[in-house]
Amino acid sequence: MKVLILDNAEAAVRRAADIVARLVGDRPRCVLGLATGGTMLPLYDELGRRHVSDGLSFAQVATFNLDEYIGLPPDHACSYHTYMREAFFDRIDIDPARTHLPRGDADDPQAESLAYEARIADAGGIDLQVLGIGQNGHIGFNEPTSSLGSRTRIKTLTDDTRRANRRFFDTFDQTPRHAITMGIATILQSRACLLLATGAAKAEAVAGMVEGPLSAACPASALQLHADATAVLDRDAAAALTLVDYYETVHPGGRESVFDRT
Ligand code: PGA
Repeated sequence: MKVLILDNAEAAVRRAADIVARLVGDRPRCVLGLATGGTMLPLYDELGRRHVSDGLSFAQVATFNLDEYIGLPPDHACSYHTYMREAFFDRIDIDPARTHLPRGDADDPQAESLAYEARIADAGGIDLQVLGIGQNGHIGFNEPTSSLGSRTRIKTLTDDTRRANRRFFDTFDQTPRHAITMGIATILQSRACLLLATGAAKAEAVAGMVEGPLSAACPASALQLHADATAVLDRDAAAALTLVDYYETVHPGGRESVFDRT
């Protein structure tokens, strides 16, 4: 895994935005996999800013989000559909018809999960999957012990995850218990992965992902199997890694290695 360590969260967000913007600039019809959560908000702010000030266009880009809460219709204030519209889609020139999230209000969430996989395949697969990481090591809503071979399906959320999401809902009871999420094998099938993690609360999960054993106990560790996975970290999120000197030798200041395209 490529580990890029930046001095602070703002620099990490800019670095992650550089990677997304380069792909979109090089391949205007690319397929992006997108994530939600607090970590992603400044990334979408930065990409939105580049759309306005640098003319970065998403007009031909297609997107597939990782997950959606079961039971919430797209117009629910706490749905990920709403999150994506407000945080990103309404601020750029993307064609709403080219944006995709699982329907949390589908009558048959299992059929919706299968259909979502098919929609990704029909689009030609995901070129770059953007990811956050949960404090418990989840990616998407693939909670610990998720099969490393899993595809898009229904997952029951852990109480830890529900507590982390509680801030977006009025009460803990209203915080959804289930989600449709891309599976770990779905994520691994994307042609490249970009995981952004900032803040000390993510340090243990990041260490498990990069240096821990490959294990369903830390679903993000599955990225060790991906041939083109990049973790962009700030110093706090990198704090529990044991090989920081090595990562900084290969990627000084979070830059590409001398052998990569700059
Ligand atoms: P966060 O969520 O960015 O809100 O910390 C990340 C995740 O749970 O994947």
